[in-house]
This record gives sequence, C-alpha cells and structure tokens, in this order.
Amino acid sequence: MKIVGINTSPRDNSNARIALQKALETAETKGAEITLFDSNKMNITACQGDNYCKAHEGKCAIDDDMTQIYKAIEECDALIFAIPVYFFDVNAQMKLVLDRLYSYFQFPFVETYGKKKVSFIITQGTPDPDAFRQTLEVQFKAFEFLGFELADLVVLVDNNVPGVIEGKEDQLELAANVGANLVE
Ligand SMILES: Cc1cc2nc3c(=O)[nH]c(=O)nc-3n(C[C@H](O)[C@H](O)[C@H](O)COP(=O)(O)O)c2cc1C
Repeated sequence: MKIVGINTSPRDNSNARIALQKALETAETKGAEITLFDSNKMNITACQGDNYCKAHEGKCAIDDDMTQIYKAIEECDALIFAIPVYFFDVNAQMKLVLDRLYSYFQFPFVETYGKKKVSFIITQGTPDPDAFRQTLEVQFKAFEFLGFELADLVVLVDNNVPGVIEGKEDQLELAANVGANLVE
C-alpha cells in the first residue's frame, strides 16, 4: 500500500513534520511504501476558480508543483496531512493545497482512482485540544465531500517551540497510531 504524507508547516524542525515522519515510519515498518512532500517548499499557486477542471476530467489548468501532489494522490491508498494551526484554523499552506483539490469535485474520483483514506495530524500552541476542533473538522470533512474515507484527526498540543514534540512520547505515540491505523 502507498501512503503519501504532506507537511504544510514552513518551519525548520517543525513539530507537525516530526509527527508526520513518525506516522510514516510506523506505516513503513508495517509494509507501506511512503512519500513525504513539504508543500511550503513547492511552487503551489492558489486556485484561480476558472472551472477549467470541470471541463477537463478533473485536471487543473495550472502547471506547477501541484502536479506532483495530484499524481501521488491518484496513485496512493492513503494520505496524511501534517498541519499547524494558524489563527484558529489550518494554515494557509494547507488551504492552498485543499483548494487545488477542488479539481476532483464533481469528477468521479473514487471510480477513477479508488477509495482512499485521509488523516490529519494537527499541531498547535494552545494546550486545549478542543479549542479549534470544530473548524478543523470542517476542513477534514472537505475530504469526505471529495470521496475520501476519513480516518484519524489528532490534535497535538503545546507545540510552540520547534522540535519540542521530540520529547513527548505520548504525542509521538498518537502520531505513530495514525500511520499504523492506515495500514491495518
Ligand atoms: C501565524 C501563526 C498563527 C498561529 N495561530 C495559532 C492559533 O490560533 N492557535 C494555536 O494554538 N497556535 C497558533 N500558532 C502556533 C502554532 O500552531 C504552533 O506553534 C504549531 O505547533 C506549529 O507547528 P510546527 O512546529 O509544525 O510549525 C500560530 C503560529 C503562527 C506562526
């Protein structure tokens, strides 16, 4: 099985990325083939809302690095996003990718590429894991709308300091479980 991880944090030593790596490594030890994208390092243009995709079998008109992500998604069995909370919501880098997935809306995605699972690993500064859950679940549900099966949404709190998650066994275990659940 193929699992694609997409880290949307721009930071060096990103906690979201560390958690994602843990999830992917765990899945790999269970036999998964893994790929990791750092979306902030890629040239990803915002959706232009031209509806080109609606007349071109779900293909976007923009020729940028998103083509690598489209291909990986189409070929994968499961997807994990690692996302920091910025101003009570997913960060803008995540929204860029999500909006570009609009090309799959009203396209027979499941019939064409198969049913895929998706999980979210969220990192945030606030210690309350439920502080932004309602908003984060709305973004998660967008994938159900596109035909994905929703797997895990985990919120890893108190992670303002880059790399601080390295010392948090409980949070790394939650991240590992995200990877394991996709394989089992
Ligand atoms: C622009 C910006 C806005 C943020 N807004 C929030 C917020 O609304 N709530 C929160 O809990 N943390 C907020 N944070 C903190 C990050 O969510 C937190 O540091 C997170 O763990 C960063 O993940 P990373 O280490 O993977 O980059 C914000 C950070 C930035 C840079």
